Amino acid sequence: MKLFDVYPINNINIVKGKGSLVWDDKGQEYLDLYGGHAVISIGHTHPHYVKRLEDQLHKIGFYSNSIEIPLQTELAEKLGKVSGKEDYQLFLCNSGAEANENALKLASFANGRKKIIAFSKSFHGRTSLAVSVTDNPNIVAPVNQNSNVIFLPFNDVSALKSVFEDEGEEICAVIIEGIQGVGGIRVASDEFLQAIRSLCDDNGAYFIADSIQCGYGRSGKFYSHDFAGVNADIYPMAKGIGNGFPMGAISISPKLKPWHGMLGTTFGGNHLACAAGLAVLEVMEEENFMENAAKVGDYLISELKKFDKVREVRGRGLMIGIELPEELSHIKKDLLFKEHIFTGEAKPNVIRLLPALNLSMTHADRFLESFAKLL
Ligand SMILES: Cc1ncc(COP(=O)(O)O)c(C=O)c1O
Repeated sequence: MKLFDVYPINNINIVKGKGSLVWDDKGQEYLDLYGGHAVISIGHTHPHYVKRLEDQLHKIGFYSNSIEIPLQTELAEKLGKVSGKEDYQLFLCNSGAEANENALKLASFANGRKKIIAFSKSFHGRTSLAVSVTDNPNIVAPVNQNSNVIFLPFNDVSALKSVFEDEGEEICAVIIEGIQGVGGIRVASDEFLQAIRSLCDDNGAYFIADSIQCGYGRSGKFYSHDFAGVNADIYPMAKGIGNGFPMGAISISPKLKPWHGMLGTTFGGNHLACAAGLAVLEVMEEENFMENAAKVGDYLISELKKFDKVREVRGRGLMIGIELPEELSHIKKDLLFKEHIFTGEAKPNVIRLLPALNLSMTHADRFLESFAKLL
């Protein structure tokens, strides 16, 4: 059988990783500022993570949600504490799209409504409902087209107000990334997030804060939406939650009361997944990774703003977008093949930095030097 390549691939075979470094099968070292797409939150092969997973595997790796799994309660308590949402409930699943799918379904079950507001350049995943609130017609199959979705311009308070004025009683939920990832690292303004909160409150709609890429400490706060000083009703999470172990989750406000049968999963919250999730939070807390993300992120952003060839630098913490002019669009490939540094991208010419939250100043400087040299 021939393999289907999920994405166009680089001809590199990574076989080993440690912290923010990875090595290929020829022994070449790379600096990883991509984290396999914002997934590696606490660095590759962190010793505590490896040990916790290994110990758990020797005990039991999986059993279904038909029995007590105390590790789930432990994870919920820890996540409640670290995220500052101790009165929320946790539902565990397996990926980001699945988390958004469940968040949207839960909101619709709760208020019995159908219309969803999403924003231009949003990305929320590839499953049926998640893709229908994603602003990219190329990945929406005819069967996923959904006339209940209203796309509005990002950060436009008056457009949002006017839709709520016209059809507020029909709006089920508003879904928004605190910092758009695939859309090119665009930060939702505090004013916009505050308007979403109050319009949802006034109209009985739910506020879904997609934190799959911008959450889990990456912005320097646990949820990037926290910068606006408002609470959302549902926080979908994935990526960094398991540091590479496939996991998704939604944190559900006490306002919502899911009942048995509304949400379900076979694999979600299994023993091994919970061990991975706990290891991530334990390391994040003990080693102050959120503070590090804020500090190293601020440093990188302010240094990057000094390059006059760079069109714009956007982001917060260790979620950074560097917009380059067309004639410098080769820089991303040069970083990888000449300087051996992995970065992400967003179309058309944005380099995305999504490193592990414990990126050191030394590694940040190594990137800045390489970037300066290539420019
Ligand atoms: C903001 C956002 N939401 C949802 C998803 C979908 O997550 P997954 O690929 O785990 O289904 C992604 C993935 O890139 C994302 O960036």
